[in-house]
Amino acid sequence: MTKAFSEAKILNTPLGEIRVEGPVEAANLEKMFLNKKLTSFRPADRQKEALIKISKLPEGMIYAARIGREIIGYLTFHYPSGYSRWSKHPRVLELGGIEVSPDWRKNGIGTTLLRKAFTNPVVEDYIVIAIEFCWHWDLKGSGLGLMAYRRMLVNSFKSVGLENRATDDPDITEDPANVLAVYFGKNVSKDNIMLFESMLFNNRHTVEFR
Ligand SMILES: CC(C)(COP(=O)(O)OP(=O)(O)OC[C@H]1O[C@@H](n2cnc3c(N)ncnc32)[C@H](O)[C@@H]1OP(=O)(O)O)[C@@H](O)C(=O)NCCC(=O)NCCS
Repeated sequence: MTKAFSEAKILNTPLGEIRVEGPVEAANLEKMFLNKKLTSFRPADRQKEALIKISKLPEGMIYAARIGREIIGYLTFHYPSGYSRWSKHPRVLELGGIEVSPDWRKNGIGTTLLRKAFTNPVVEDYIVIAIEFCWHWDLKGSGLGLMAYRRMLVNSFKSVGLENRATDDPDITEDPANVLAVYFGKNVSKDNIMLFESMLFNNRHTVEFR
């Protein structure tokens, strides 16, 4: 995969000027630190290591929102885990996580990270999936109920073309609030789109009626 780098987007927020950029290389991530409240997936120091690891993968990409050396938000892309049904598709790329520090939320940073990431032409070569597991959501901090939070995420993801799709993937059906959102890149072949569609429901033809 050719990772296309582009100029940083400068975001002026009431709290200061933020640079949103990517894909950020491992060597640059090493010089930065994560805001301590970036803990949705794991503690911030371990998350930094995870971001560095992802950035070193051939397909891995990290987008970061930062003030100086402090990362206050990030977004990741990588191939789906080998345990996931989507890993069996040759053109699926997963938007693995998006997180903005609670101190900086509702300033348009999440949306800017998404927009910046989706201007990368490499996205057009893939079917991008985003699996939103509700156990990562910050309901308490956001002041939103489960369904309102889900709506907020669905609308944000829709703004870059990620549309909700139904599936019987047990990882997703484990909780009815979980979401699978999908973006079909413009250069993805019809065959690969059809293959993806056929993978949404594994048990479509095996439902037993009693
Ligand atoms: C989801 C998340 C990344 C959004 O980041 P953010 O920087 O606050 O997002 P933005 O400021 O760009 O807001 C995006 C939209 O959601 C709305 N929104 C965000 N937080 C909200 C809140 N607490 N209440 C109401 N609306 C909210 C914004 O108003 C905006 O809507 P608009 O586009 O109509 O103006 C952030 O809340 C987060 O890190 N949450 C914890 C981790 C998580 O849930 N990750 C996603 C799934 S794995």
